[in-house]
Amino acid sequence: MSHPIRIPQHIAIIMDGNGRWAQKRSHPRVFGHIRGASRIKEIVLEANRLGVKALTLYAFSTENWSRPEGELSVLWKLLKKFLQKEERELHQNNVCLRVIGEVERLGGDVRQVLDPVVQKLSQNTGLQLNFAVSYGSRRELARACALFAKDCLEGKQKPEDMNDELMTRYLWTSGLGKLSDVDLLIRTSGEYRISNFLLWQAAYAEFIFSDVYWPDFRASHLKEAIEQYSKRDRRFGGIATQVRA
Ligand code: FPP
Repeated sequence: MSHPIRIPQHIAIIMDGNGRWAQKRSHPRVFGHIRGASRIKEIVLEANRLGVKALTLYAFSTENWSRPEGELSVLWKLLKKFLQKEERELHQNNVCLRVIGEVERLGGDVRQVLDPVVQKLSQNTGLQLNFAVSYGSRRELARACALFAKDCLEGKQKPEDMNDELMTRYLWTSGLGKLSDVDLLIRTSGEYRISNFLLWQAAYAEFIFSDVYWPDFRASHLKEAIEQYSKRDRRFGGIATQVRA
């Protein structure tokens, strides 16, 4: 019996395997990043076309700062290039762009390109696209605790009022509102880890691990992942009949 396709509202992707993709072809690792960056547009437009409401892409983690200087500078160049090249088409497709992570750590040259693009797309009502840049979920949670403590000291909040819903308002993903919970988390390249990504938001996410390296990941792979997701029985700790009801 074929299932109707259920489209996840929020998909998060760990775009992994760029370095190995390049090394397998005896190219320097940065070739993988170049190819990887060129895959992003197709996936964003496909998610938008399918009616996905939010897409969060892990572009750079807090731990990635330890990579060699040369690799870092290529990653920043690619981010700038992507924004400059795709801004128009993202806008035409009604895509709203946000950045989650320690934006204050990014170089002035990156901010100069990033900030106006985020501003320009901020009123769009289609796909909510989040780039996780200098993002780490532990940092996000620690920061949320500090912000909440500060609000308590200033009399704006009370410790006893803290709950799951209130917590989401202190996270970097707060701009997503009710969409901040991840429904489907995809990791490419055959690694089975969450790597400090959306630990709170993915509490009840379905996980799909694809063997495909990110530079080879296409719209058809996204559709396959969504089809697999459609067949999963999501119970959120309850039993199947309750969830369906
Ligand atoms: C993982 O590959 C990928 C990254 C560290 C970052 C993802 C970056 C891109 C897709 C390109 C640039 C980004 C944007 C937003 C334009 P890896 O280097 O960890 O691969 P490996 O595990 O095979 O070494």
